Amino acid sequence: MNILVTGGAGFIGSHTVVELENAGFRPIILDDFSNSEKSVLDGLKNILGHDVECIEGNCNDTEVLRSVFASHKIDGVIHFAAAKAVGESVENPLKYYDLNVGSLIKLIRTMEEFGVKKMVFSSSCTVYGEPDEIPVTESTPRKPANSPYGNTKTICEDILRDTVLSGRNAQFVALRYFNPIGAHETAEIGELPSGVPSNLVPYITQTAAGLRNELTIFGDDYDTIDGTNIRDFIHVVDLAKAHVLALKFLEEKEEAYYDVFNIGTGKGNSVKELVDTFEEVNGVKLNYKIGPRRPGDTIKIYGDVNKSQDILGWKAEKTLAEALKDAWRWQQKLAERK
Ligand code: UD1
Repeated sequence: MNILVTGGAGFIGSHTVVELENAGFRPIILDDFSNSEKSVLDGLKNILGHDVECIEGNCNDTEVLRSVFASHKIDGVIHFAAAKAVGESVENPLKYYDLNVGSLIKLIRTMEEFGVKKMVFSSSCTVYGEPDEIPVTESTPRKPANSPYGNTKTICEDILRDTVLSGRNAQFVALRYFNPIGAHETAEIGELPSGVPSNLVPYITQTAAGLRNELTIFGDDYDTIDGTNIRDFIHVVDLAKAHVLALKFLEEKEEAYYDVFNIGTGKGNSVKELVDTFEEVNGVKLNYKIGPRRPGDTIKIYGDVNKSQDILGWKAEKTLAEALKDAWRWQQKLAERK
């Protein structure tokens, strides 16, 4: 099966390309490299032993999509391509609505035009907002998003659901990711933030590597075990494997279908626990201080992942320690490259 992977040069996309190949699918990347680097393709080649087909183009452009579907027999789509910087989405909401929502609509229309029915969509636990109870299950009510970025994920889920409810024969799933971290164990691919990272783990690895002076932990006065936020940190390779199982699951489905799945470890860790684990497993001392809370941060969230296990047959296997070792190995490899 040929699988179109939009945003396949990105962090989660590139790891998913590897797992698709490992499972016998043929991934075809569509990426405009607006937030990724071409060197990712070299990393993929080093892991897989051959080139992965990559089309450079913007998936928010119907003509680009049409030409891809016209020139390839596409059997299914994994749609990663999207912008994801929470702060930027507050400054420039139209960019987010245009890109994240616009590209999904164009993609669904083009899929319909070419008779392609199956899609796995990248959603986020951001749709739960600050939940009243944890762990969150898929039936935990979604809350109004606290950023335009978050709102695009909620809207995109609704677009997928309503398209299927309209009676169209399509099979879609939205995977609600918790916090993906880590890198491929070969250190050939990993997270490549452009500029100052806003996510925790790349900030930590860059600080440990001496590229940043110190990490600021955003608040230690929350009502949690040690006062810092609680997240469900999941190894990116586990997350990538969930896409393969979701596609296999959709392969079997012939009737119209839409559902959402939590993709996390089922366990919460605090930011401080993550920092301590990073230091311990990698034998490095991290320079950090406690700073004020970051506006808009969810206090605590982690996912109940029984539904993914029962229906998709998926479960996270890697530990927080493995993820943090892999992230650090990747950062060191990046330093060698420079
Ligand atoms: C954020 C978004 C989420 C989005 C994801 C995409 C918010 C509220 N949520 O997740 O919707 O899907 O990014 O990448 O912005 N932290 C520090 N110091 C730092 C960086 C982070 O203490 O320098 C803390 C944060 O306060 C948070 C945790 O680390 O408690 C994780 O932060 P981050 O990696 O940015 O992810 P989320 O905020 O969970």
